[in-house]
Amino acid sequence: MEKKRMRIVLLFVGATLSAVAATAVFAQSKSNEGSALNRKRYLPEYTASGDLILPKNFQEWVYVGSPLTPHALNNGKAGFPEFHNVYIEPGSYEIFKKTGKFPEQTIFFKELQLTLPAENPDGSRTEPSGRGYFPGKMNGADVTVKDSKRYPTGWGYYNFNHHEPKAATAKLQPESACGYCHVASAKKDQVWTQFYPLLDK
Ligand code: HEC
Repeated sequence: MEKKRMRIVLLFVGATLSAVAATAVFAQSKSNEGSALNRKRYLPEYTASGDLILPKNFQEWVYVGSPLTPHALNNGKAGFPEFHNVYIEPGSYEIFKKTGKFPEQTIFFKELQLTLPAENPDGSRTEPSGRGYFPGKMNGADVTVKDSKRYPTGWGYYNFNHHEPKAATAKLQPESACGYCHVASAKKDQVWTQFYPLLDK
C-alpha cells in the first residue's frame, strides 16, 4: 500500500519536472528563432560604376580563422607574410548555420595583419608566452562576394590594397588573378572551409 502511494507521488513529480523542462526548451528555441529573424544582413554596396565599396564594420563580423604563411617558411618570399584574419558577414553566417550553404550576397573579409618586428632570424620574437609570431599593424584586405547573377563564376574577388589605409572602393579582379585558385582547391563553394572549423560541416 505504502509502496503504491510512493510510486504515484514519484510519477507526479516526474511529470511536473518534464513539463517544466519542456517549457524551458520551448522558451529557448523561441528566443533563438527571434534573434535569427531579427538579424539584419549587411549586403554588398557598389558605386555607380560598379566597384565594391569597402564593407562597413567588418571587425564586428564572425571571425573564422587566421592562416599564417610567414617569410621564414617560404624562402623569404611569402606573397602574404601576414596573419590572414578571416571574417564572414554575421547575417549570412546565421543562414549558413541553418542551411549549410552560403546564401547569395555572402561577404568574406580577409584582413591582413603584419607580425610584430622580428627579433630572431626566422622572423619570430620571444614574448612571455613563448617564441613565435605576434600580431602587429593591419596591412590591407581581400574580399569575396557571392552573387551568381553578377559574377559569371558565382563569386567576385576584390583587393582593397596590400598596405594601409585600405582603399575606399575596389575593382573586380579577373578570374585569372584570384578565382581560379579558389575554384581549384577550396573545399566548399570557393571558400577554404577546410581551415575554418566553424564553417567546416
Ligand atoms: C594561388 C591560390 C590563391 C590565389 C591566386 C588567391 N587566393 Fe584567396 N585564398 C587562398 C587560400 C589557400 C586561402 C585560405 C588560406 C590562406 O589565407 O592562406 C585564401 C583565402 C581567401 C579569402 C578568405 C575567405 C576564403 O575563401 O577562405 C579571401 C577573401 C580571399 N582569399 C580573396 C582572394 C582575392 C581577392 C584574390 C585575388 C586578389 C585571391 N584570394 C587569390 C588561395 C588563393
